Amino acid sequence: MGTTIATASAGRISRRAHALRSSEIRDLLHLTRRPDVISLAGGLPDPSCFPTDELAEAAHRAITDRSVLALQYGPTEGDPALRERIADRHQHATGRPTHPDQVLVTTGSQQGLDLLARVLGDPGDTVAVEDPGYLGALQAFKAAGLRLLPIHLDDGGLRVDALAALLTGPTPDRPAFVYTVPTFQNPTGVTLAPDRRTELAALADEHDLLVVEDTPYADLRFSGPALLPVASATDRVITLGTTSKTLAPGLRVGWMIGPRWLIAATTRAKQAVDLHTSSLSQAVVADLLADPAWFDRQVATVAERYGQRAATLEAALADRLGHRIALTRPSGGMFCWARIPGLDARSLLPAAVDEGTAFVPGDAFAVEADLRDRLRLSFAAADEARLVEAVARLTRALDRTHPA
Ligand SMILES: Cc1ncc(COP(=O)(O)O)c(C=O)c1O
Repeated sequence: MGTTIATASAGRISRRAHALRSSEIRDLLHLTRRPDVISLAGGLPDPSCFPTDELAEAAHRAITDRSVLALQYGPTEGDPALRERIADRHQHATGRPTHPDQVLVTTGSQQGLDLLARVLGDPGDTVAVEDPGYLGALQAFKAAGLRLLPIHLDDGGLRVDALAALLTGPTPDRPAFVYTVPTFQNPTGVTLAPDRRTELAALADEHDLLVVEDTPYADLRFSGPALLPVASATDRVITLGTTSKTLAPGLRVGWMIGPRWLIAATTRAKQAVDLHTSSLSQAVVADLLADPAWFDRQVATVAERYGQRAATLEAALADRLGHRIALTRPSGGMFCWARIPGLDARSLLPAAVDEGTAFVPGDAFAVEADLRDRLRLSFAAADEARLVEAVARLTRALDRTHPA
C-alpha cells in the first residue's frame, strides 16, 4: 500500500524536482552521524564557538524591549538597523561607499545564491563557477536551469586567466555572472592571490561582467595578512555574507550587497519565497552588531580556535602520511584539501566510516575536474585529540584499501 502511494506520488513530482535527487555521497555521509564516528566531513562550525550567553541576552532584549520589531512581520529587505550595520561593515572592508539600500537581508547566504540564480539567469543561460566549487551553489544554479562553465583553481585560487580565455576565446561565452569564494574557499581552502583579485575586477569592468563574491569564511583568518575583497576594486561585484560561521548557522541570517536595481529585483523574488528573514534572528544580529568591538572579538576567538585545529590536523597528517599526501595550507576558514596520488577517495570512504572517521571525496565538488584522488577535511568540528584520532583511523582505512 505504502509503495503504491509512493509510486503514484512520484509521478506527480515535476521534472525539475526530479533533477534534484540526493547524491550518492550525501547518502553515504548519513552514516557519519553515528556517535562513534569522528567526522571531518561536515561543514559545521564548532558549537562551542556559539556565543550562547550573548545570543540569549540579545534575544531577551529583542523580545522584551522591541517585541513588535522582533515578533511581527517585517520588510522583505530586512530590518533597517541591521541593513545599516551590514552596510557600515562592508564600507569599512571595501573602502567603497555603501548605502543600506544596497543591502538585502537573506535567510542564510544560501538564499542569496538561489535568488541570484533566478534573478540574473534564465534557464539555459550559463554561469562561470569554480571547479571544484561549493556544492550548495552548484545545486542552486542547476536548480534554476543554469549551465555551469567550470573554471579551474590552483594554489592562487580561481584561474582568472582561464576566465579571461572563456570571455574572449574563439567561441566566447557570456555567463550571466561568475561565482567565486575568493577567501578560504570551500572545498579547497585556497585564497585568491592579490594580483588575481585586481585582474578579476579589471576583467569584470572590461566585459561588464557581474562577479558574485561569496565571503562566509573571509573573517576567519588565522594567519597571514588580510586581503582586500574583489568588491574593493569594482562596483560590478555582488557580495554575499553570513553570520553562520561567525555567530551560529541556526540564526539563518545572511545578506547580499549589490547595486540598487539588483536588490530591488531580488527583493521581489524573495517576497514570493519567505516574505522576509526571521524578524527575531535579525533583531538578535542587529543587537550584537551594534557593538562592533565585541563582534570583532567573537570572530577573532573563532578564528584562533580554528587556527589551532588546522595546525593540529596538518601536523597529524604529515606525521602519519607525510610522504603520501599533499595538502593545501589554508590561512583561515574551516577546510583543508588533500591529495593522495593513486587514491580512489570514494572507495576509501566506506572503509574510513568503518574505522570511525569520515571526509568528503573530492569529486563531490567537481564540475568536470577529475578529483578522485582528493579529499576535503574539515578541521573545525573536532577538538585536537579527536583530530589526531581521526587521522589515525583514516590512516588505517587507507592502509587497508590502498596499501602503499
Ligand atoms: C561557500 C559557501 N557559501 C554559502 C554557504 C551557505 O551558508 P549559509 O546559508 O548558512 O549562510 C556555505 C555553507 O557552508 C558555504 O560554504
